[in-house]
Amino acid sequence: MSFTSLAELLAAHGAAASAGVAVLSAPGALYRAISSDAVYVKNTLVVSGLIGEDGISTRLDLTAFTDLAFIVQAGATLELRNLTLLLPPLPTKTTTGSTASALAHVIGLEESGARVLLAGVNMVMATQSDLFTLTRTLCTPEDWRYGTKELQVLRGVVLYGNGTMLLGLSSDGSSPPPDAASALAILVNTSITCEGGPPPPPWACSATYVASADMLRSTAEEMLSGTAGPVLLSLTGNVTLQPDSWDGGLVVRKGQQLGLYGNPEPLRAVQLDFAGIAGAIVAESGRVLLRQLVLLGLPYPPNVDSPKELFAVWVHAVFTGR
Ligand SMILES: *[C@@H]1O[C@H](CO)[C@@H](O)[C@H](O)[C@H]1NC(C)=O
Ligand SMILES: *[C@@H]1O[C@H](CO)[C@@H](O)[C@H](O)[C@H]1NC(C)=O
Ligand SMILES: *[C@@H]1O[C@H](CO)[C@@H](O)[C@H](O)[C@H]1NC(C)=O
Ligand SMILES: *[C@@H]1O[C@H](CO)[C@@H](O)[C@H](O)[C@H]1NC(C)=O
Repeated sequence: MSFTSLAELLAAHGAAASAGVAVLSAPGALYRAISSDAVYVKNTLVVSGLIGEDGISTRLDLTAFTDLAFIVQAGATLELRNLTLLLPPLPTKTTTGSTASALAHVIGLEESGARVLLAGVNMVMATQSDLFTLTRTLCTPEDWRYGTKELQVLRGVVLYGNGTMLLGLSSDGSSPPPDAASALAILVNTSITCEGGPPPPPWACSATYVASADMLRSTAEEMLSGTAGPVLLSLTGNVTLQPDSWDGGLVVRKGQQLGLYGNPEPLRAVQLDFAGIAGAIVAESGRVLLRQLVLLGLPYPPNVDSPKELFAVWVHAVFTGR
């Protein structure tokens, strides 16, 4: 179903462009705005699709937009619910710098004090390369935060259980634009994939959580084998490696990165016990990052090749290429 503009599309389904509830009620159907005229949200605007029995939701096609599709004013609310959102290509020169956002070129704020929520939305990026770019920026090992279902990257698909994403800033406003910290959309039960279905490996990043040594081993190996970039694992409980079953080092190959994260809350500290296994993780020429973990069971070096090794106590659990 094509409409000359997004405003007309919404009006045809029960919402004045600036306010109200638009229900796009045909699961699987494609609702498309042809022009690239933005909708100014001045009040509360809810755009809701429906999820069919097959799990396919109503599709809202915004691919015609070359600039913001929704501009949300101060005090106003935009909610997108139970929709598949087809996104236009990422701008080549991204306005948000290096910050990962699939939305900043589609939804923008005019001033601070607006609220944007996406719940049950499946964002479809225009190309595999856009998804790759987004995921690579999202998965910076140094900035990754410990978590469980809040944010995961599984088989190339980004899954937000409950997170935030940077929005764009509209330059049309007369008042100063909002600072980046307040220009965030809340994402609940929202995923990001790309046109043509989930991307094939190798993926730009993989991230999830593990609760035991067995899970750590199997998840890390599976993810490392299909991922070109970082593999980021949060440890949700104390993990103790078993010398009998660990069976050789977990290998992080050239160009790969493995990040293991513990809970930063002081009373929820997570222990990673290497059980004295030397070379439990072998970073041939990849990188291993351990954050907010209490490391136990650190092995003594099997061979002391240089005086440096006598002091680098913890390093013997993780062998690096030399
Ligand atoms: C969205 O879908 C979920 C699950 O199918 C349903 O529980 C919820 O009521 C829907 N929300 C809206 C606003 O339609
Ligand atoms: C999402 O997380 C925030 C805090 O991080 C919390 O206040 C909010 O209730 C959560 N929402 C859902 C739907 O889980
Ligand atoms: C998220 O999705 C799950 C399962 O699909 C559902 O049980 C839950 O109610 C949803 N949460 C929200 C806030 O829509
Ligand atoms: C890990 O073990 C320590 C010491 O037994 C305990 O205090 C802590 O609560 C445990 N952490 C978790 C996340 O279970």
